[in-house]
Amino acid sequence: MAASEALLAAARAVRERAAADFSGFKVGAALETADGQIITGCNVENASYGLTVCAERVAIFKAISEGHRAFRRIVVVADTESPTPPCGACRQIMWEFGGDLEVILANLTTVTAMLQMKDLLPLPFDRRLL
Ligand code: THU
Repeated sequence: MAASEALLAAARAVRERAAADFSGFKVGAALETADGQIITGCNVENASYGLTVCAERVAIFKAISEGHRAFRRIVVVADTESPTPPCGACRQIMWEFGGDLEVILANLTTVTAMLQMKDLLPLPFDRRLL
């Protein structure tokens, strides 16, 4: 499946920095901004478990903090045979800041799924309802 090699490489590289001491499950994310920049994130776990932040949200929050507000797609990499889809919390954040992003799921060697956010989060709650 076609996906930007640069985004895939960035997600695989940042995955190595995951602070996943409790689960051992390392995840890397690479977000492409509307102007073609790549912002990465890895999962950051916590001894209290519940304060863990997933790779996708780290990438989105980094991007927002660096002034980016429009995005094209995100690559998420885990060392799994089957696709590792974003959790519910990440879907909400990805939708609110990324809209109908293209979501590319991959492992260390290949792309495992290519999806759209509107399919991952049907009937979303967002600012249009406030
Ligand atoms: N995790 C992510 O970072 N992204 C996902 O899409 C799935 C789960 C992290 C959270 C936690 O650090 C570990 O993977 C196990 O759930």
